[in-house]
Amino acid sequence: MAALTHIPVLLQECLTGLQIKADGVYIDGTFGRGGHSRQILSKLGPNGRLIGLDRDLTAVAVGEELAASDPRFSIVHTPFSRLLDVCTDLDLVGRVDGILLDIGVSSPQLDEAERGFSFDKDGPLDMRMDQSAEKSAATVVATYDEKALAYIFKVYGEERFASKVARAIVKRREVQPFTTTKDLANVIAGAIPGKPTPKHKATRCFQALRIEVNSELEELKTALASAVQVLAPHGRLCVISFHSLEDRIVKNFYREQSQGEQIPPHIPLTQEELERRRLASATLELVGGAQKASDEELNANVRSRSATLRVAERLPYTPSSSLASKEE
Ligand SMILES: C[S@@+](CC[C@H](N)C(=O)[O-])C[C@H]1O[C@@H](n2cnc3c(N)ncnc32)[C@H](O)[C@@H]1O
Repeated sequence: MAALTHIPVLLQECLTGLQIKADGVYIDGTFGRGGHSRQILSKLGPNGRLIGLDRDLTAVAVGEELAASDPRFSIVHTPFSRLLDVCTDLDLVGRVDGILLDIGVSSPQLDEAERGFSFDKDGPLDMRMDQSAEKSAATVVATYDEKALAYIFKVYGEERFASKVARAIVKRREVQPFTTTKDLANVIAGAIPGKPTPKHKATRCFQALRIEVNSELEELKTALASAVQVLAPHGRLCVISFHSLEDRIVKNFYREQSQGEQIPPHIPLTQEELERRRLASATLELVGGAQKASDEELNANVRSRSATLRVAERLPYTPSSSLASKEE
């Protein structure tokens, strides 16, 4: 059944990026249907360990089945922003050899109309990745004021006609509340001027609502900061993003963490001292640039077209505390 499948994207690239050691400890922060997890497990020996995280209850149920058949695997129902808490509970802070975040929605989430992510299939206005969360797309559309709606469409959807769309939604909900995805998509499309486009006109606003409902950008920022704390020296971080807002966050985070302390040019320091201080504060080293799906993968899985993988390695911990004490 198509609704139950998810083809893992950039699979080989992730396995290479993670540099899997047979007895290592790995975290798949976005278990989904376990496509990546199962391949990571196939590279682990009997003493290796993989912890899957997902906030979707259906994904967690699939993870529980896998955990029952493989003692090296365990699954936690949690947003990945709790990565540090999870690792603290498991006594894994500073001991994780690799983390994968394949962010965004899974194919089953998109394909099951009742999850309310899609405008192609009519369903309830939901879009919650975690079915136990309180805020749904219906809540956002019914309760946010016009300014707040315009803001999310503009910032999270990069929608040019954000204000027009927000106004149309507020006008329409005064008469009749929105309950279904198609109804909302039609009102959004009607508010955007111009001829029909190959991509549905509501695409950007749907993306924006999804990001808002699931706090996707905050989730990502928190998880990246936690990853640096929980990775072991030389541990690898692989992040797959699916749109430019997410990729920008990953790219900028990697850049900042690999550059370390930025010392103003007027401070008189030797080149050697500058490099020493940079290395003392940098936490990541970039491993290659942005990776995209090959033509072969694109032909096999259309959803891989917008995937971008970025890999970084945790630099060995530097004695920055001793550096600080020497300077005192
Ligand atoms: C693209 S799918 C991952 C698919 C998976 N790699 C596979 O091969 O089956 C993304 C998954 O991550 C989950 N997810 C997205 N954001 C999350 C977050 N902030 N915390 C926890 N899970 C999240 C979604 O519920 C979904 O199941």
